[in-house]
Amino acid sequence: MITSQNIKQTYDRFSSLYDLIFKPYLEFGRQRAIELMRPMRGARILEIGVGTGLSFEYYPSDVEVLGFDYSFGMLREAKNKAADSCHCPVKLAQMDAQNMAFPDNSFDYLMAAYVLTVVPDPDKAVREIFRVARPGAKVVIVNYLCSRNKLMNIIEDIFHPVFASIGLFTLKHDLAGLLMQHGAQNVRIEPTSFLNLHHIVSFTVPA
Ligand SMILES: C[S@@+](CC[C@H](N)C(=O)[O-])C[C@H]1O[C@@H](n2cnc3c(N)ncnc32)[C@H](O)[C@@H]1O
Repeated sequence: MITSQNIKQTYDRFSSLYDLIFKPYLEFGRQRAIELMRPMRGARILEIGVGTGLSFEYYPSDVEVLGFDYSFGMLREAKNKAADSCHCPVKLAQMDAQNMAFPDNSFDYLMAAYVLTVVPDPDKAVREIFRVARPGAKVVIVNYLCSRNKLMNIIEDIFHPVFASIGLFTLKHDLAGLLMQHGAQNVRIEPTSFLNLHHIVSFTVPA
């Protein structure tokens, strides 16, 4: 069974190599997610599973980012980027997306890029997002979404155990369906990354 500890170990181990592989491949999704978020001046943004901080360079200078991740290795890299390539103030914390240490209704803007298929229990993480978001908050999620194509489903079935067993990610969650169950409003979905393998899902939290 995949646990947060397995995942943490995987990301701790590969944190210094992460940018080499995932910066070029996943870059457009992060940039576009922040464009779609269009945070207001002075906004406080929660970034869930901030990783090595590859999104930092895209935030405008007049917002504040609070980023957290479960892996200390990834956070170490993010700390360097916060100092080197970020235009706005950034605070970082170690935390589990499935159990966030924030009171209800804390944030107006939330972002999670390539995270929700990595956490062991995405349902819990999504519940936490809706809990800590204020009514009307804008949420942007970049992720792999389960395919509606039968051939892709077969490929997902083949690769899912391989990726899941090393704690990298799972392909078997209907994330879009889950967000709808929670009452996500103004949902907009657009494809991103090579072969449109990922999607950017933006929505507002119901009032
Ligand atoms: C594929 S990386 C994405 C990182 C970053 N968002 C990006 O765009 O490159 C997944 C990140 O989720 C983090 N993560 C995995 N499980 C987590 C959890 N339960 N709580 C918080 N972060 C988690 C990992 O440590 C890793 O940094």
